[in-house]
Amino acid sequence: SMMREISGINETEEKLKQALGLEDVVVVQGDSDKEPWVKNELGRACAVRMKAALTGNNIIAVTGGSTMAAVADVLTPDISAKRQLLFVPARGGIGEDVANQANTICAKMAERTGGKHRVLYVPDQVSPEVYKSVVNEPSIKEVLTLIKQADIVLHGIGEAMTMAERRKTGKEEMEKIIRGHAVGEAFGYYFNEQGEIVHKVRTIGLQLEDLHRIRHVFAVAGGASKAKAIKAYMNTKPESTVLITDEGAAKQILAWR
Ligand code: G3H
Repeated sequence: SMMREISGINETEEKLKQALGLEDVVVVQGDSDKEPWVKNELGRACAVRMKAALTGNNIIAVTGGSTMAAVADVLTPDISAKRQLLFVPARGGIGEDVANQANTICAKMAERTGGKHRVLYVPDQVSPEVYKSVVNEPSIKEVLTLIKQADIVLHGIGEAMTMAERRKTGKEEMEKIIRGHAVGEAFGYYFNEQGEIVHKVRTIGLQLEDLHRIRHVFAVAGGASKAKAIKAYMNTKPESTVLITDEGAAKQILAWR
């Protein structure tokens, strides 16, 4: 729009695409670290993009976090008109509080759009034996099959230490994250600046390598405090990922060039 041109947002998007090696980037105005309403704008931008990707019968895998919760907040029933939407959590428990859990967010997305959702209850910290038997539960297996069939993924990106602390990560794992110089986090994977995985929360569901065969992946993350995390995650080269971010993060990333 005219406003976007005048404010230079289109130019910022172009520069950011180049800087991060992405084909598609959306930048909304403001900095979500400073102004909470910017998170809703991220949510709205994500909803618009998601709507354009819907074909009629879609499985949408969603991660947790406050940004994903903001996406859920702005969804409306018109998005699912004449469509069958099924929301599934991308991965099992990774230590978030209820409000930030993918299960909760999926339920809200389904409620707000008139779609359906499934839950994936996997205990956070279990022994390998318990874990193995949980994975073989028929009801869990069924949800895992649906997750693997997702054609749209919506996910957040977090600052590594913020996420590790918020999830009350145990001492050993914490040391691994610190020793590995993790700066970014997505889906329970922690990345260093080069985009190398330094720690991975053990849980079932979508794995990083699954992303390559999913048609539409939307990463939603804003705020200058997430600039390093976003850059690190994009160093994993998720080619087809559409980044939805804000000026706060964008300007900081571009300032490093
Ligand atoms: O994986 C990333 C985190 O879920 C991001 O959480 O949106 O609350 O910053 P946040």
